[in-house]
Amino acid sequence: MIARRFLSFHQRVFTSSLRVMSSIPPPECLFKDINIPNRQLFGPGPSTMPQVIGSTQAQPLLGHLHPEFVEIMSQVRLGLQYVFKTRNAYTLAVSGTGHAGMEAAILNLAERGETLLVAKAGIWGQRAADLGRRLGLKVEVVEVGDGQIVPLSAIEEAATRVKPAVIFVCHGESSTGIAQPLEGLSKIAHDNGGLLLVDTVASLGGAPFDMDALGVDCVYSATQKVLNAPPGLAPISFSDRAIQKIKKRKERVASFYFDALELGNYWGCDGEMRRYHHTAPISTVYALREALAIIAKKGIDTLIQQHLDTATGLYSQLGEAGLSMFVERKEDRLPCLHTVKVPEGVDWKGVQTALFQQGIEFAGGLGATTGKIFRIGTFGQNSEPEKAKEVVNKFIQVVKEQSKL
Ligand SMILES: Cc1ncc(COP(=O)(O)O)c(C=O)c1O
Repeated sequence: MIARRFLSFHQRVFTSSLRVMSSIPPPECLFKDINIPNRQLFGPGPSTMPQVIGSTQAQPLLGHLHPEFVEIMSQVRLGLQYVFKTRNAYTLAVSGTGHAGMEAAILNLAERGETLLVAKAGIWGQRAADLGRRLGLKVEVVEVGDGQIVPLSAIEEAATRVKPAVIFVCHGESSTGIAQPLEGLSKIAHDNGGLLLVDTVASLGGAPFDMDALGVDCVYSATQKVLNAPPGLAPISFSDRAIQKIKKRKERVASFYFDALELGNYWGCDGEMRRYHHTAPISTVYALREALAIIAKKGIDTLIQQHLDTATGLYSQLGEAGLSMFVERKEDRLPCLHTVKVPEGVDWKGVQTALFQQGIEFAGGLGATTGKIFRIGTFGQNSEPEKAKEVVNKFIQVVKEQSKL
């Protein structure tokens, strides 16, 4: 009896110790401090984050439905209305990066079997088309060569022919450096019974944009470009027309997480009692709130003008150094992300590596432009003229050393 008791005690200890004993040792690297170099981020994003945004982000956590956090969410909504230039009630931030904004927008605005018309001027049009096909939409693409904008007439011709439920355009095509003109597009969408969706991930705050004046039905962006905040939230806004369509859908949105009406309730857009939807990334919301405060104090139009002026200065600086812009026409260029042709005989990777060694990030191309261009982002605080000029000078020096320009 005693032996049996002893044995069963032993077995119990043995089995319970099995449960807590890991055969995988803790990784040695985690015993050392994290190593983060202080790099100036002048690529296509994320951009250099001001210290004040980092310290705001590091403030103590609150619960995601605590009154103080709910108040911060309301302030973020007001800040987003200010930067998008809209009075839309359904203006909020989706938890996730810019892709989350794209998914949320397309998922909500179009139903299976409807047509998505994509104006494709680079990789982001391609991504939207791919997403549309995954969601069971009929996708129609109007395409142009890299470095060009999609002509309004081509979009109008396609829209009249296919009667799209949604027209997608990317305002700032970060893979080529173009700024797609938006005037006249909402009329084309509405006249053909559809909605206008605009990606401003790489352009919001860095190029002129006025959601309400342009008649845009849905716009999304991201926090890590001109806003200079960490990645993790996708600001988004839906017009009343878009919300009416979403409310009248035949099928429910195929995602709970990205359902605009659920998100709108959680963010206090519908005036009803807030329901738990998900746990917002509290610290990232603090950071976004700080980023919006910086813009509110500076003024959104002053910020946009700063990007335009700095861009003009950089075109001269680069031109004087013998470098050519990838986007031929100045008026087609995105003022916050500059694409420069890689000169003959220059190894773009070598240039990038040399700049990295000086603590500066510049990027190469993306998708079809890989190997053909450099991409220089002057997002937000990086568009301060002296700062941008100094960094671009370093870039020119490195290119000169490589090519004997
Ligand atoms: C124009 C554009 N749209 C969408 C995205 C996707 O954003 P994210 O990488 O934050 O998911 C990017 C990212 O660079 C972009 O430049």
